[in-house]
Parts: sequence; structure tokens; C-alpha cells
Amino acid sequence: MSALLSVEAVTRQYRLPRLSLFRPAPMLTAVRDISFTLETGQTLGIVGESGSGKSTLARLVMGFETPDTGRVVFDGQDLAQLSPAAMRAARRGFQMVFQDPFGSLDQRRRIGWSIAEPLRAQGAGGDHARAVAQALEQVGLRADHADRFPHEFSGGQRQRIAIARAIITRPRLLVADEAVSALDVSVQAQILNLLMDLQDDLGLAILFISHDLAVVSSICDDVLVMREGQVVERGPVGDVLTRPAQDYTRTLLAAAALED
Ligand SMILES: Nc1ncnc2c1ncn2[C@@H]1O[C@H](COP(=O)(O)OP(=O)(O)OP(=O)(O)O)[C@@H](O)[C@H]1O
Ligand SMILES: [Mg+2]
Repeated sequence: MSALLSVEAVTRQYRLPRLSLFRPAPMLTAVRDISFTLETGQTLGIVGESGSGKSTLARLVMGFETPDTGRVVFDGQDLAQLSPAAMRAARRGFQMVFQDPFGSLDQRRRIGWSIAEPLRAQGAGGDHARAVAQALEQVGLRADHADRFPHEFSGGQRQRIAIARAIITRPRLLVADEAVSALDVSVQAQILNLLMDLQDDLGLAILFISHDLAVVSSICDDVLVMREGQVVERGPVGDVLTRPAQDYTRTLLAAAALED
């Protein structure tokens, strides 16, 4: 059986501002020749210092950006080859949860409207009230919360709302980019538990991006360590974060220990 997600030798470069009229604009390689696979039900952590390319990789996996070389294959389909209509249909299968739900929710809209947004993006017509109610209950909120506005919720509740919006299409892959980083530790634990419960209930694969090695080791099966756009090592969290093979991973772990 082929993997749910297969990232194959993906490279992404950005053109930086030109420093001189007489020289070509410098290029920055944010993601360099990265390959990995993710299976249904698996949680893969991505760690690495700021600027190592984690969010760029997330955008490539989501199809928000296209690789310069290499392929992102979801469920057997190369995302870059899909027509806009096929991409809309494929997008049902993978959704994203961002760090800042306050920024990603429309402040002037009732949350039910925002949660239904991926369904509207699919072109699904009609009233999504039932699906919204179900998604709210799946994330531990109440169906009648749909009529409230984002400012009426706490940070943790807003992250639940963002997760409700992500699961409403019944995705098979969730990409979480620093999804709990802005939350207090106790709230973080609740949201991580929710993600793990949803993973069990829905059979989700999760790509969990975080700079927090403790969080990654508590919920991920495997971890992939990135540095300057490249993969330094990948393996089961128990191995990589306790017996790292690479000096860079040891440095990351030592820095994390100093933070505590
Ligand atoms: N649109 C862009 N244009 C130019 N450079 C970019 C762009 N997006 C990202 N970069 C650069 O690519 C590199 C990787 O950035 P990225 O945001 O993927 O890192 P990250 O690992 O997510 O960092 P953080 O932990 O701070 O979120 C950085 O050097 C960043 O400045
Ligand atoms: Mg980032």
C-alpha cells in the first residue's frame, strides 16, 4: 500500500530583494531536497529552530505553494498536477490548523459561519448547520456555540473552533503548525488530548510542527528534525529525542533543556 502523504525530493526557493542593480537577486532555499512519507493514523513531528523551513514545508504539503522541484503526493495524486477543481476536491482530505485562531477566524462572523467555510470552499451548497453542530461537539464545544462570535471564547476554545473547521470536511490528514504554541501549558495539554482523541476516532494522520520538543515527544510517533531547510534525521521520537544520532539534534535538545 502506498503512503497517505509522500513528499518526494521537494525543494522550494524564494527570491530575496535585490541588493545591487548589477547582480541577480539572491535566492534563499527554504526547503532543500526533503523526502518523507506519512501513513494513515500516524503522527509525525517536525522540529527545528526558527527559520529552518517548517512552515514552508507545511505550505507545500497543503498545496498553498508549489515546489520548485520534487512532488507532494497525497493519496496517490501529485498536487501540482491537479486542476483547480480537482484541487478543491482533494482539499477535503487535508486541512490545516494554525497557531493563531484569532487571526484566522473572521471576527465579525458567527463561528458557525467560519467553521462551515471549508464546506463552502468545496462548493457544497445548502445549510451546513448539522455538520457544524457535529464538528463543534467533536471538539468538546456545544452545538449552540455556533451563533457566538470569536471574542466570546477563550484562547483554548478558539483553537477548538479552528480544529472544528479543520475536521468538518472529514480530512485524513491534519497539518498543525505551532497549533498549541500560543496556549498556556494546561490548555495546551487539553488541546493535545483533543487532537489525540480525534486521531483515534477519525483515523487522522497528523503532521505536527512545533519548536517544543517536549510536546512533540508526548504526542508524536516519529519526528523529523530540520535544519536550514534540510532533514537532519528522522526516526521514532523515543530514539531521536533520547538517543539522537546527529550533533544538531543534541544541540536542539540541550537548548530546550535550558529553557525549562
Ligand atoms: N515568502 C517568503 N519569501 C522569502 N523568504 C521566505 C518566505 N517564506 C519563508 N521565507 C524564508 O524561508 C526560511 C524558512 O522559513 P519558515 O517560515 O519556513 O521557517 P520556520 O521553520 O517555520 O520558522 P519559525 O519556527 O520561526 O516559524 C526563512 O529564512 C524565511 O525567512
Ligand atoms: Mg513557522
